[in-house]
Amino acid sequence: MVAFEHEDVLIRRGPRAGLPVIVAIHSTAPGPAIGGCRIWRYAGWTEGVDDALRLSAAMTHKSAVAGLAAGGGKTVVPVPAGAALGPARRRALLLDIGDVIASLDGRYATGPDVGTTSADMAIIGERTAHVFCRPADQGGSGDPSPHTAAGAFAALRAVCARRFGTAALTGRRLAVVGLGNVGGALARMLAAAGAELIVADIDPAKRAFADEIGATWTGPEEAITAPVDVLVPAALGGLLTEEVVPALRCAAIAGPANNQLADPAVADLLHRRGITWVPDYVVSAGGVIGTLGLELHHRTADEARALVSGIEDTVGELLDAAERAGGTPARAAHELARRRLRAAASPDREPAR
Ligand code: PHE
Repeated sequence: MVAFEHEDVLIRRGPRAGLPVIVAIHSTAPGPAIGGCRIWRYAGWTEGVDDALRLSAAMTHKSAVAGLAAGGGKTVVPVPAGAALGPARRRALLLDIGDVIASLDGRYATGPDVGTTSADMAIIGERTAHVFCRPADQGGSGDPSPHTAAGAFAALRAVCARRFGTAALTGRRLAVVGLGNVGGALARMLAAAGAELIVADIDPAKRAFADEIGATWTGPEEAITAPVDVLVPAALGGLLTEEVVPALRCAAIAGPANNQLADPAVADLLHRRGITWVPDYVVSAGGVIGTLGLELHHRTADEARALVSGIEDTVGELLDAAERAGGTPARAAHELARRRLRAAASPDREPAR
């Protein structure tokens, strides 16, 4: 179980769909808590609570390192095994979620995450204004995954610059694990930049996409332990376990999947093996950076893209700070987040963008 340092956890059985709606608010110190809505199958609903606690804490850190005036939260709906979620019940569930978020009066705003889309945000938006990423024709900025993918690409440039002396991805060997909305977009960008790709997904139908972008298709296990320059986790969390570390054959790991470490101690094991691991919450910040830029700060598309590309500098600075301190990038990122959160809690705030 994660440490309970959260402001609030709300668990309500939605009256329409009869499913638990869990909203964890980790922190609103820097600004309203922001974090996506995950609709996913778990072994039991308490596993959903665990995930909400972990993911909401990661969102606080994500926004802090990205320099956003936002805190961290997350919505999780654990769908019981065997429960059918047809269109009518799904719509009912989204309205239930909207009511729960509305009851929080702006302390928390949601967006898409694993298992939800911008069309779903439009339905949540029928009950609350505190929802990002509605489709463009309904006043939102749409699917955030292109921003998340672009941010991860920027992070990979910084990693390559520090580890291999050049930020260019041309000829670099990377293994992308997970070809969903973000992983797929990222793999496409990497292929276009001339990287040599090994890709995997639990869905065998993604093989056609691998062929289309000229990537080598393999199983997730093989991809994780493939001899590559950089391993790119882009699926669900918990990929990096104590057991997998000795089998890794990459120089660095950086990808947009949330909560990659099965245990925080894995960051130290990776460091000892000489593998550079960039914290997931730094690499995956492009979605919130781009979305908040567009929807809250009314930036143009080009300006939002530039903000997202800023992740290259952020990651570069973190890797430099880690090097100077002789510690892990995980520690450097954690310290930066702590500093920003302390500043947010004090009366004379650091300016945030
Ligand atoms: N799923 C996004 C993340 O993990 C959350 C998000 C929220 C994205 C709001 C955009 C806007 O960062």
